[in-house]
Amino acid sequence: MSHECPRAARAHVTVRLAAVAALAAAACTPDEAPLLGKEAMLDPETCASCHEAHYTEWSGSMHAYAAEDPVFLAMNRRGQRETDGALGAFCVNCHAPMAVRLGLTKDGLDLDAVPAYAKGVTCYFCHSATEVTGTHNAPIELAGDLVMRGAIQDPVANTAHASLSSPLLDRSERRSADLCGSCHDIVTPPPHEVHLERTFAEWKASLFSKTESGDDQTCGSCHMKARDDVAANFEGVFLRRVHDHKMVGADVALTEFPDRDAQLEQIQRELDTTLLPRICVVEAGGATTITLRLENQAAGHSWPSGAAQDRRAWVEVVAYDAADAVVFSSGVVPDTEPLASIKDPNLWRFGDTGFDAQGNEAHMFWEIAKVESALLEAPVVADKEDPAWKDIHRTREYLYSGPLPSRVTMRVRLRPIGLDVLDSLIASGDLEPEHRAKMPTFTLGSTNLEWKLSLGVSCYPKDHE
Ligand code: HEC
Ligand code: HEC
Ligand code: HEC
Ligand code: HEC
Ligand code: HEC
Repeated sequence: MSHECPRAARAHVTVRLAAVAALAAAACTPDEAPLLGKEAMLDPETCASCHEAHYTEWSGSMHAYAAEDPVFLAMNRRGQRETDGALGAFCVNCHAPMAVRLGLTKDGLDLDAVPAYAKGVTCYFCHSATEVTGTHNAPIELAGDLVMRGAIQDPVANTAHASLSSPLLDRSERRSADLCGSCHDIVTPPPHEVHLERTFAEWKASLFSKTESGDDQTCGSCHMKARDDVAANFEGVFLRRVHDHKMVGADVALTEFPDRDAQLEQIQRELDTTLLPRICVVEAGGATTITLRLENQAAGHSWPSGAAQDRRAWVEVVAYDAADAVVFSSGVVPDTEPLASIKDPNLWRFGDTGFDAQGNEAHMFWEIAKVESALLEAPVVADKEDPAWKDIHRTREYLYSGPLPSRVTMRVRLRPIGLDVLDSLIASGDLEPEHRAKMPTFTLGSTNLEWKLSLGVSCYPKDHE
């Protein structure tokens, strides 16, 4: 409670860096109303009265869900058991960072007893960040001054908190990617120390992080869409650019959670424009070759990204003859079955595959000693003449004997977490079986494509170079 004054202090002035120190020192001048104390500022509920839209968006986000997520709870529980507690605060340090910093949990096994205000990636956590000292595992320093950092240069003074602009919280600044990125890249604990989630590293290697152009595409540029609105419901505010806090990716809430349907819809919308596909079909000597081509056109990092060892992303392709009978197929998986359940030598899959120290396939963070990666990379440079330019198309050929089919359909499918991963957590008694049915299988809209013999072309769409 740093600003307790009898009837205190309304911050009339825009609080800039220099003024913050002054405010802390002389917080109690006669006319000022008290700013809120730490307990209130830690709690997202406090923000709701003035930042209703931000609160609502965040409440339905994976940031709010990070410590409720039953798959997270199950995996952490199993990890603690299988490592005899060696995981410690490793997982919960990102999934409930305030709870760890406030000393409310040491291993995340007791999250039920942790008050809601400290669970998930909270408003206070992001908006108090002052320094990011590394590239992974959330080495983020927080201010203790209760000043809310954002990107607004001329904030209207309010009765709850002082405000300050900071490049870490300004999506037009490259450094803002350090804040998001350092939590979105994971290096597992010793002995394996595998760079398991690499969204930040992928972004840094991509076109989107190149500073020369002055128009960086930071994490926030793509994941926090801007609109005109008031930033707070408070006296004296005016229209500004404000930023969406839903921050959808691929993961979904599996239990009752605010705006779950809206989350699914938003993810679908983003996925619908992520990839660019093409189908080519040719026949030679009585055999048909179907060549599919895919390109990552919208993600500022590889696709899929992040927990790519748990994602199941694959291509479904089906060829039909003139009687509409299936003559060839690959990647056809019922929505209720694990991808691993089909024995398909032609399967085209994107993602990471983890292996343990003995070289067996492994899914759990603490077992993985090595990853093999097959992802759709983001562009490195835009200019084809640039020596750094890299072809990021990926193609796959499917060959079968038979004449040209009458039509070929394709679609790319994504399961945020593989059903085999969930089945394994259910089998070990860590996950309730009821959650399995809630795991969606998305179809990426743009990849829902059909080639027809009647089109009279071997490739469809003809070309999009
Ligand atoms: C009493 C109302 C009120 C409450 C409660 C409140 N804020 Fe604010 N906040 C404001 C106003 C007003 C602004 C300035 C908006 C503007 O200038 O358009 C603001 C600005 C901000 C900014 C932008 C700072 C900048 O300079 O870029 C952030 C971030 C912020 N608030 C976060 C929070 C968080 C997090 C909470 C809850 C812990 C919270 N606020 C609670 C009224 C409030
Ligand atoms: C150029 C726009 C763009 C930039 C820059 C960008 N992303 Fe993405 N991101 C996307 C798109 C498009 C997707 C795929 C659609 C989806 O899953 O919502 C995606 C997906 C994701 C996902 C879901 C994981 C998955 O398998 O696809 C995460 C997590 C993510 N981004 C985090 C980040 C972080 C962290 C950064 C910054 C280091 C970043 N993004 C930068 C556009 C972008
Ligand atoms: C994952 C980090 C993160 C979390 C969690 C988060 N914010 Fe933000 N917030 C940001 C970033 C980044 C911006 C700045 C976007 C920009 O202007 O470039 C921002 C901007 C804001 C602003 C300024 C207006 C605007 O929309 O740009 C307000 C107010 C705000 N956030 C309130 C909140 C509240 C309230 C919560 C919790 C209910 C919250 N934020 C949770 C990262 C976060
Ligand atoms: C304290 C660490 C932390 C910070 C900082 C952070 N995130 Fe996250 N983020 C998480 C965690 C943990 C999850 C996933 C929770 C889950 O799925 O259970 C997540 C989820 C997401 C997702 C959804 C991923 C998916 O696959 O559905 C996106 C998109 C995202 N974050 C973007 C951002 C952006 C943009 C920023 C910066 C403005 C940011 N994050 C800052 C920890 C963080
Ligand atoms: C450095 C921060 C960080 C650490 C450490 C971390 N996570 Fe996460 N976790 C994230 C982020 C960020 C996401 C969202 C990434 C994405 O969706 O691609 C996530 C997503 C998840 C998800 C949902 C997505 C999925 O497909 O698995 C689970 C479950 C999860 N984490 C479990 C764990 C467990 C268990 C640990 C410890 C062994 C752990 N996490 C450690 C940041 C972290």
